[in-house]
Amino acid sequence: MSPPPIAAREIAREERFNEVWNNQLNDVFADVAPYYDRANTIASLGLWGRFLRQFMATVEVRPGERVLDVCAGTNAIGIALLEREPSLEVHAIDRSAAMQEVGQRSAESRGLRIRSVIADVHTLPFPDDHFDLVTIQFASRHLRVGRVFAEIRRVLKPGGRFHHCDMLRPASRVVEQLYYAYLRTCLEFTAILFRSGPAARKCKEYFINALRMFYSAEELCVVLRELGYVEVRASTVLCGMLGFHRAVKPPPG
Ligand SMILES: C[S@@+](CC[C@H](N)C(=O)[O-])C[C@H]1O[C@@H](n2cnc3c(N)ncnc32)[C@H](O)[C@@H]1O
Repeated sequence: MSPPPIAAREIAREERFNEVWNNQLNDVFADVAPYYDRANTIASLGLWGRFLRQFMATVEVRPGERVLDVCAGTNAIGIALLEREPSLEVHAIDRSAAMQEVGQRSAESRGLRIRSVIADVHTLPFPDDHFDLVTIQFASRHLRVGRVFAEIRRVLKPGGRFHHCDMLRPASRVVEQLYYAYLRTCLEFTAILFRSGPAARKCKEYFINALRMFYSAEELCVVLRELGYVEVRASTVLCGMLGFHRAVKPPPG
C-alpha cells in the first residue's frame, strides 16, 4: 500500500534535502547572519517588517505566558512579542549560534530578555506540556515538518497555541513560476550585494527547490490535523505565497 500523500511528500523532501539540511544549511546561516535582516528587507522590496506585523496580528498573547520561538534566527518574533507584552517569558531555539548571536544583541539593545538554546529543533529539549504558545516563522521549508510539528505539540500545554508563518507553494502554477523567477533574481542580487560566501552561493538553487517541494496553505492544514492539532486555521497573502497558520493542542478528554 502506498503511503498517504503527506507522508510520501515528507519522505521525498527528506530524501532530496537530507544532505543540505544535515551538512550545509548551518554554514549558510553562519554566512548570512550578519546581513540576514537587511537582505530580507531588500528581497521583499521593503515588505519584511509588514509581513512580520501581519503574522503578529494573528497571534494573541496573555500576560505572563511562556512562549517558545522555534528556529528563532535573529529573534524578530521574540522581540515583537516582548515589545507587545513585556511580562512574557520568551525562549528561543535555533541551531545557528551565529543567527542567535545577532538575535541576542538585538534583544539586549532593546533591554529585552530572550532565553536562548542552541540545538536542532527535531528534538526539543523541553518537557511535555510546557509552553502556552509556540511560534515558527520562515523555517519549516528547511525541516522535517512532521517531526518538528509533533515535537511542538508535545511541548505545548493542553489548549496551547501553535502559530506558523512561512513562504508556501502557491496554488496557481502561473504565480508559482513567476515567484520562483523573482526569488532566483533576488538570491543572485543579494549574494552579490552582501558578498555571500561559498556556502550561501552553493545553496541558492536549494532555496527554490525547497519551496517547490513544500506545502500549499491547505496541505499544511492537513499536516497539522493529521498530527492531532485542532482548531486549525490558515490565511494567506500575496496569492498564497505567504501563509499564516494557527492550531491548538487539544485539551485532555
Ligand atoms: C530563514 S531563517 C528564519 C529565522 C527567523 N525565524 C525569522 O523569521 O527571521 C531559518 C532559521 O532556521 C534555523 N534552522 C534551520 N534548520 C534548523 C534545525 N534543524 N534546527 C534548528 N534550527 C534550524 C536556521 O539556523 C535559521 O536561523
